[in-house]
Amino acid sequence: MIILRSRAEIEKIKTSCAIVAEILDRLVEHIRPGVTTWDLNAISEELTSKKHAKPAFKGYHGYPFSLCASVNEEVVHGMPSKHRRLKDGDIIGLDYGVVLDGYYGDAALTVPVGEISRDAASLCTVTEECLYEGIRKAVSGNRLSDISHAIQDYVEKRGYSVVREFVGHGIGQHLHESPQVPNYGPPGKGVRLKPGMVLAIEPMINAGAAEVDILEDQWTAVTRDRKLSAHFEHTIAVTDNGPIILTRRKNLFTKLYG
Ligand code: MF3
Ligand code: CO
Repeated sequence: MIILRSRAEIEKIKTSCAIVAEILDRLVEHIRPGVTTWDLNAISEELTSKKHAKPAFKGYHGYPFSLCASVNEEVVHGMPSKHRRLKDGDIIGLDYGVVLDGYYGDAALTVPVGEISRDAASLCTVTEECLYEGIRKAVSGNRLSDISHAIQDYVEKRGYSVVREFVGHGIGQHLHESPQVPNYGPPGKGVRLKPGMVLAIEPMINAGAAEVDILEDQWTAVTRDRKLSAHFEHTIAVTDNGPIILTRRKNLFTKLYG
């Protein structure tokens, strides 16, 4: 069952999403060689409590941190560590969620640390672009897999691969609600999109092969070939006037999309 959210509920989700977007902007300002992912987690927690919100991920299925920080070949759910010090040329995925007044927001982006290679930059750009290709299809009357297909098509045409093991999701009064939103599949399948649906769309894109492994910590997903991976996520609402991005940041990583 997919819950259709009222305007008042979407306003609450939007409040949480605005906090997530602002915290991601603040975290990006701290990204530089020498910073540890542990430091970033601590900053995210401090900013969240200042907003009187709660981290959405901490304790979720036993996840022990507030932030997911996935460096280079890490795909998602990278665990913050005092030993993971960022270095020049890394890329880092920052995935963050909060809950306020019972409603959730969730978003992610991947950013460069210092100077990165052209290949790394291109992977990040294509991953951000494919997210917007998916969001463009989040229109009332389309079907769910129109989003999925648009993402896969955009990515594979550019020689990258789509991770299958993790998918986007409905979001609202829980972090993960129905429906699942895969980043691959044929067009024209699944439920018809309706105003009031709120979705977290989150493509994870690999430079090499699509396969992933889970590390011994039981959380960190890495590419099996240990090549780079990037991740972008927005929480969006389907409305009568098209999709609205609820987690829009003020500082955009690329300038392609206003
Ligand atoms: N954005 C990710 C997701 O929706 C982050 C979840 S991390 C977890 O799955 F720890 F909460 F699982
Ligand atoms: Co998510």
